[in-house]
Amino acid sequence: MTHSHHDASVPRTHGPAAGRPHVHDQVDASDGGDDLLDLDGEVLEAYWGVALDRVTAAAAEGLGVVGRSPARVVDLGAGTGTGAVGLARRLPEAEVVAVDVSEPSLARVAVKAHAAGVGARVRTLVADLDTGWPDLSPIDLTWASMSLHHLADPVRSLAEVRRLTSPGGLLAVSEFDEPLRFLPDDLGIGRPGFETRALEVLSTVHAEALPNIGASWAAMLAESGWTVVDQHDVVIDERAPDHPLAGRYARAWFARLEDGLSGRLDAEDQVTLEALLDDGPQGLLHRSDLHLHGIRSLTLARA
Ligand SMILES: C[S@@+](CC[C@H](N)C(=O)[O-])C[C@H]1O[C@@H](n2cnc3c(N)ncnc32)[C@H](O)[C@@H]1O
Repeated sequence: MTHSHHDASVPRTHGPAAGRPHVHDQVDASDGGDDLLDLDGEVLEAYWGVALDRVTAAAAEGLGVVGRSPARVVDLGAGTGTGAVGLARRLPEAEVVAVDVSEPSLARVAVKAHAAGVGARVRTLVADLDTGWPDLSPIDLTWASMSLHHLADPVRSLAEVRRLTSPGGLLAVSEFDEPLRFLPDDLGIGRPGFETRALEVLSTVHAEALPNIGASWAAMLAESGWTVVDQHDVVIDERAPDHPLAGRYARAWFARLEDGLSGRLDAEDQVTLEALLDDGPQGLLHRSDLHLHGIRSLTLARA
């Protein structure tokens, strides 16, 4: 197994599980979070490019032994399909199945796939993966981005995907290592350290509702019978991002954060958050001091 560090800040070319409390993820697809997922795919284009290039290269290596390219690819918890469409573009011979519990998210996948000219090879499938897996065998590549921590029993689900995967097939897991941050310490409003405090509160909420955020995915993969072959961090680091949608992405992110925190910020920080969400000059849509920084860990494993 190799462990490496990759910087995605390269110049740009320009339903929660049953029985657990509802909480909004950092990038959650339910009720309006679909916009946030789309913006994630667009603004973090460099990260997505690095991650998907790496995954498709590794998938081809494994199946190269038996002399073929991936035929069936699954995007597990596909959301609005940045991964599914990116994989279909990179693997011109593959059928990609985008699986998600959210029908509205999958409707966006279909539109996006069609616009990208890969609509004939991207299939959508509504399924709650906590209640069992559709028979998608044989799977050559599964991409699970920011979705496994939503599942009630990720080890059981990972073992099920392994059972459906062809020999030499690959599973790629991208999960949060360090949460995305957008702001400097001193915002010129409220007291310094707003974002750090907000993330601390969010992490308390997540500890209650999404206990697998920040789990050791390599250990879970090994426990479910996979052989981990690579793990590395992909760093997102865009100072003064020039992407025209960066402000909208930040605003969508903090709007979801506000939802997820359900009033747990103190009064002064709540006022700061309102100012950030506002359309005024201090608001996220107009700020010139955004600095996107975060780390996503990419773990690759073979059946
Ligand atoms: C944070 S989003 C990630 C979406 C996408 N993979 C991405 O990286 O942009 C998590 C996704 O997992 C899906 N999800 C959550 N629980 C699920 C379940 N039990 N079965 C299927 N999908 C689920 C959600 O609907 C959501 O689309």
